[in-house]
Amino acid sequence: VTATEREHLDKIRNRFTRTAESFADFALSRRADETEKVAAAATASLANPSASIAADLGCGPGTLVRALAPYLARAIGVDFTPAMLVRARREASRAGLANLTFVCADAGALPFADASLDLVSCGYTLHHLLAPAQVLCEMARVVRPRGRVAIVDLVVPEGADADVHNHIERVRDPSHATTFGAAGLRRLLPQVGLRILAAQQHHRQREFDEWMHVAGLAPGSPGYVETLHLMESTAGEAAGYSPRRDPAAGALQFTQHVVFLLAEKE
Ligand SMILES: C[S@@+](CC[C@H](N)C(=O)[O-])C[C@H]1O[C@@H](n2cnc3c(N)ncnc32)[C@H](O)[C@@H]1O
Repeated sequence: VTATEREHLDKIRNRFTRTAESFADFALSRRADETEKVAAAATASLANPSASIAADLGCGPGTLVRALAPYLARAIGVDFTPAMLVRARREASRAGLANLTFVCADAGALPFADASLDLVSCGYTLHHLLAPAQVLCEMARVVRPRGRVAIVDLVVPEGADADVHNHIERVRDPSHATTFGAAGLRRLLPQVGLRILAAQQHHRQREFDEWMHVAGLAPGSPGYVETLHLMESTAGEAAGYSPRRDPAAGALQFTQHVVFLLAEKE
């Protein structure tokens, strides 16, 4: 890990320590339906799910891994932010998921042996990483041949300006690194020996104020004001967010684009 990467990991840990509860409340409720679908699709392609072991990288409050666990023999959530794991353990225990454990580790240097897992997933974390290819290499290393890799993440929509998009994301959250276009993300997988089996894209409507709250930005704070300014200028449209005001309440809304990739280790 270089000094720059270390500094960036500190930014990530600080951001997700500060916002552990607001982020968890959002992810566990607003993304519940999507998460159930991702978990069902990822485990359906395993030869024998109930005998399989999976790890979910950047698990946060356990959003995806707690949906995976009921299908599997064992599931492990991996995250670099202890505050997130506190919430994740609380949620797992409340749900009675005895086959779910958590490890505090860097997804770029996983504490798992080569080819030791049947499924490795990563949700909404690659866009925070300075070296996402390193994490994809780690995913490919720890999954067994013919095992599965599942990725769900934000993408820059086709035709949008990726630089403007990522600038807005970094103003909102300095721990943001790079959101890829869907094609750019897809291109990375074969480079580490992962063959894509399925790719699906969807979008969701977001409320600007909730998006700020999840990142710990109070109305009127410098980050809130600057992000709002960008979203309401031509930048918001150029970035592919399609910002608009709700005609009834007047709240600022926008669109996020999401890709789900399922791959097989060759
Ligand atoms: C946007 S949250 C996503 C959480 C969860 N996967 C979800 O979908 O709700 C990103 C998570 O990745 C974790 N994270 C970021 N970089 C990481 C790294 N290098 N290793 C492990 N965890 C990391 C953060 O601590 C945070 O909990």
